[in-house]
Amino acid sequence: MSQTAEIKVDGKTFELPIIEGSEGEKAIDISKLRAQTGLITLDPGFKNTGSTQSAITFLDGEKGILRHRGYSIEDLAEKSSFLEVAYLTIYGNKPSAEEIKSFQDEITKHTLVHEDIKKVLDGFPSNSHPMGVLSSLVTSLTAFYPESLDPNRSKDAVNLSIIRIIAKMPTFAAWAYKNKMGHPANYPDNSLNYGSNFLKMMFALPTEKYDVDPVVAKALDKLLILHADHEQNCSASTVRIVGSSQASLYASISAGINALWGPLHGGANQAVIEMLEAIKADGGDTSKYIEKAKDKNDPFRLMGFGHRVYKNFDPRARIIKKAADEVLEKLGVNDPILDIAKGLEEVALKDEYFVARNLYPNVDFYSGIIYRALGIPTEMFTVMFALGRLPGWIAQWKEMRENNEPIGRPRQIYTGSNHRDY
Ligand code: MLT
Repeated sequence: MSQTAEIKVDGKTFELPIIEGSEGEKAIDISKLRAQTGLITLDPGFKNTGSTQSAITFLDGEKGILRHRGYSIEDLAEKSSFLEVAYLTIYGNKPSAEEIKSFQDEITKHTLVHEDIKKVLDGFPSNSHPMGVLSSLVTSLTAFYPESLDPNRSKDAVNLSIIRIIAKMPTFAAWAYKNKMGHPANYPDNSLNYGSNFLKMMFALPTEKYDVDPVVAKALDKLLILHADHEQNCSASTVRIVGSSQASLYASISAGINALWGPLHGGANQAVIEMLEAIKADGGDTSKYIEKAKDKNDPFRLMGFGHRVYKNFDPRARIIKKAADEVLEKLGVNDPILDIAKGLEEVALKDEYFVARNLYPNVDFYSGIIYRALGIPTEMFTVMFALGRLPGWIAQWKEMRENNEPIGRPRQIYTGSNHRDY
């Protein structure tokens, strides 16, 4: 393929460079288009527009490929751990035995949260959505660690900010849940690994002994791995554009949490269970809802099916489906909601209407099922997504800062009133 593209406007031909990535992806570099032609491009939702060049994650929506720093999601889910994947995603290579031990030790040192942050937590009524609590607690870190406000401080200072938020996110997430339950917040238990510490802070009660179920801890670690990064999704793009103004890591991550909250993004796993509960409340007739989903005049839409990037299947969904089956069997979970989910899954994988439209069960469909089986309440599902996506957000912010990328400032086509006298 030629290394340049031609665009012809009003009889004039302009040449634009074509760039190629390490996996053969090609893009027309339009960074000088307006200066050359006076024209801009228009691409609502940026579905045909690359915002950056990145070495973190490669995905191929047609072939169902997802890799982090070159390692397949299948290998990482099977052989790695969430903290190892976090290290790989953020720093670019798998850690040595010494590096991962130091990384884990550093994180353990910082799991405790300043006691005054409880005042932020206590300001939230118990009916607050945990995502709003989480984004506020993350933003409060800018007050307790003012040195984090400068993204251009030394590498060590930036790295300490990174360690602190990885260490404190599980504590914040568990506190958001305890606030909702009206239970006393638990403190981290540094004798436990990352996922087990989170589960204990979530579910331990002062009135009874709590032991982490290894099956649940293992399933959680795999779920976190599967959510670690997903190249330039809505929340990662939000983190990048907020960080591009040289806002701090914590301000950028907090913005990413709020972008993830929406039901079209990270909130989809919560919307899946709410859909299943509505079907159950209406008698549990999945065939009725399959027909509603096919009816163009019916506003009902199946949540948790298909994906805007993966055209044939989401590789994460295949892995998580297997994990869901294993967890449900090992925990002996018997839940009518999950039976309804199974019913929808069977139809979606066979029915020509869904197959022709690539409406297969996606990662949000299965993650909601597992989180529910693990005893995690529905409003916490997107918080779980945020916990998993944290390393990706950090890696995207760090890469954007290290590459000294310019402030994000898209253009527009104005369609409002022409000049009129006041
Ligand atoms: C994600 O993992 O961020 C979601 O699949 C959404 C996306 O990639 O657009």
